[in-house]
Amino acid sequence: MLLPVIMAGGTGSRLWPLSRELYPKQFICLHGQNSMLQETVNRLAGIEVRAPMVICNEEHRFLVAEQLRQINKLSHNIILEPVGRNTAPAIALAALNAVEQGDDPILLVLAADHIIDDKAAFHRAIATATAYADQGSLVTFGIVPTGPETGYGYIHRGDKVNEQNEAPHKVQRFVEKPNLATAQQYIQSGEYYWNSGMFMFRAKRYLQELEKFRPDILEACRRAMANVQEGNDFINIDKDDFIACPDESIDYAVMEQTDAAVVVPLDAGWSDVGSWSALWEVNDKDSQGNSLKGDTFLHNTKNCYINTDDQLVAAIGVEDLVIVNTKDAVLVARRDQVQDVKRVVEFLKNEC
Ligand code: GDD
Ligand code: MG
Repeated sequence: MLLPVIMAGGTGSRLWPLSRELYPKQFICLHGQNSMLQETVNRLAGIEVRAPMVICNEEHRFLVAEQLRQINKLSHNIILEPVGRNTAPAIALAALNAVEQGDDPILLVLAADHIIDDKAAFHRAIATATAYADQGSLVTFGIVPTGPETGYGYIHRGDKVNEQNEAPHKVQRFVEKPNLATAQQYIQSGEYYWNSGMFMFRAKRYLQELEKFRPDILEACRRAMANVQEGNDFINIDKDDFIACPDESIDYAVMEQTDAAVVVPLDAGWSDVGSWSALWEVNDKDSQGNSLKGDTFLHNTKNCYINTDDQLVAAIGVEDLVIVNTKDAVLVARRDQVQDVKRVVEFLKNEC
């Protein structure tokens, strides 16, 4: 049975001021009734999977446990990182933990902060991927790109792995976050997918590839897992050993290097909600194109995203703005410049 591994240790800095260090975006309700973490778990209903494993920062342990409890999920599979070391180590911890139980399950690695509207299409892609992960491939899920985004990994698809209709393509090349000119070339060629940031492979297969390309990461994770303390539903890995682990994403550490990658296309209304404008795009809007949450008064206002905690926000004669009002901070930005919100977070970090 598949083991869902949910990576929930990111900071979501581009969704400031709602997403904060103590409460990052994966734990917030941004789209729908539940938090993004809860949506990630609920989206698996209908396929046979084990109890999900969540990997997060230790500061968020009670938040994660409580959010899983709210949706009636067992919470004894939460691995706590003393510091963030990015996704290659996070997945290694999950794989090592699974292998330690004397097992080699297929891991379905998911980000905790994605929106996927078409659950049935997502489940079909998972079914296709399972057969190839079972045989030793490292499967990525590829999204048909709609523009030269530089915040994504790009997958150059090669030949199909076999003649079957649903067969995935070999990955000819995987390029994590290219620059704009390169991304533009990729889009023009029509031969690239975006990497969705979700993966599927057997636990041991991932560890094998990590050993080949980044033995230093694997070694640090092995040491951190060897001194693990289990209790109170949480798996606490060793702090000093994990601090010594290099910081690297799975994309750079493994996916750009491996020959064993295949890509399963995913057409399921996917968004990684990487920014306020991405959220505006996927949310329901009024007749003037405004996406609104909280108490608002609008006059001659178009194509705005407005989210307010408990104060009224009045907007008059404005277009294409993002306005986010929380108890202690207000963001006003042009919708086409919201990628720079992370600059505020950098500024605040330097101030403190
Ligand atoms: N446990 C843990 N520890 N989780 C982490 C850590 C960490 O140190 N760092 C990030 N994560 C989680 C995030 O919470 C998120 O769910 C997921 O891992 C991906 O991390 P991001 O930081 O959001 O990555 P990205 O968006 O820049 O890039 C990745 O996703 C894109 C699609 O959204 C890459 O895989 C790209 O290739 C891909 O296109
Ligand atoms: Mg992301």
